[in-house]
Amino acid sequence: MRDGEESAAGKALLDWYDVHAREMPWRIGPLRRAAGERPDPYRVWLSEVMLQQTTVAAVRSYFRRFTDRWPRVGDLAAAEDAEVMAEWAGLGYYARARNLLKCARAVAERGGFPDTAEGLRALPGIGPYTAAAVAAIAWDEPAVVVDGNVERVVARLWAVQTPLPGAKAELTQLAGRLTPALRPGDHAQAMMDLGATICTPRNPVCALCPVDAYCAARAEGIADSLPRKAPKAEKPTREGFVYVAASAAGVLLERRPEKGLLGGMTGFPGSDWGPAPLPCPPLAANWVEAPLVRHTFTHFHLRLRVFAAQAEGAGFTPRAAFRPAALPTVMRKVWDAAQAVLPQSD
Ligand code: ADE
Repeated sequence: MRDGEESAAGKALLDWYDVHAREMPWRIGPLRRAAGERPDPYRVWLSEVMLQQTTVAAVRSYFRRFTDRWPRVGDLAAAEDAEVMAEWAGLGYYARARNLLKCARAVAERGGFPDTAEGLRALPGIGPYTAAAVAAIAWDEPAVVVDGNVERVVARLWAVQTPLPGAKAELTQLAGRLTPALRPGDHAQAMMDLGATICTPRNPVCALCPVDAYCAARAEGIADSLPRKAPKAEKPTREGFVYVAASAAGVLLERRPEKGLLGGMTGFPGSDWGPAPLPCPPLAANWVEAPLVRHTFTHFHLRLRVFAAQAEGAGFTPRAAFRPAALPTVMRKVWDAAQAVLPQSD
């Protein structure tokens, strides 16, 4: 993009969004927005928190369940922690769910969402991205919204060669040059939609791009290779053991400590994850090894050896109160693996 082309490019992008905006359950599309309808800040905030590190496709059903169950921020604020963690199960990054609740309670306490990015930033668990996205989308503040999609679009428009993550400040400054005073909320969403559907990481569809005429990377034939990324360190592999004791009557579960990975989530007892010695089983039973479970977290791969036994006892969760869907994904994999060696009770 050359200096002075920003407003023409911004207009072309908004014209494209007017026709091609994706439908999303939290979104007020451009037609309804032009007719004066405003998005609900609660729904915008909830969707943005869910969408961090997660795709739109994965978020849709979670968003529907959350908003059916807790239609307003005050409803979420009043929810039991364990209920919210159980609904979040499967979305990952469980600290987000704990912060979500803290934030909902702070918002309910102050009587509503702040109406500026600065005010939003002061809430627990709201970082610069979420504050900017909610301020732009819900309040039409010309905040500069930069997520991974926007970084990619901007890096290509200006053919930025600096690798990520070092390029972040430069990309944010360039994204600011493109942010319009009018319709900044639609602009932010248009950038995200463009990045998700046309200006994709691999094989971008430049022939369909509304701003291809302004794109330096396209002109140089290098769109595919941008943004550059600094090489990532290899993920280490950790190992652990886990015990699944279950019968037709109940299942032995534990609540993980608040701090740390999967904090506050339900799981099965077992060892720490690292190089870990085989811990004593939680009770005496005929333990049988189930298939190995593999799971990848942000910073490491995990290999879990699963031991299962038919057992019952005090402190078991009754079957009627046990929902495998309320387990974090790695623990759901453990449960599924245990089924291979446990007698089927239903
Ligand atoms: N990804 C994160 N937030 C989004 C939004 N508001 N619209 C589209 N994609 C998104």
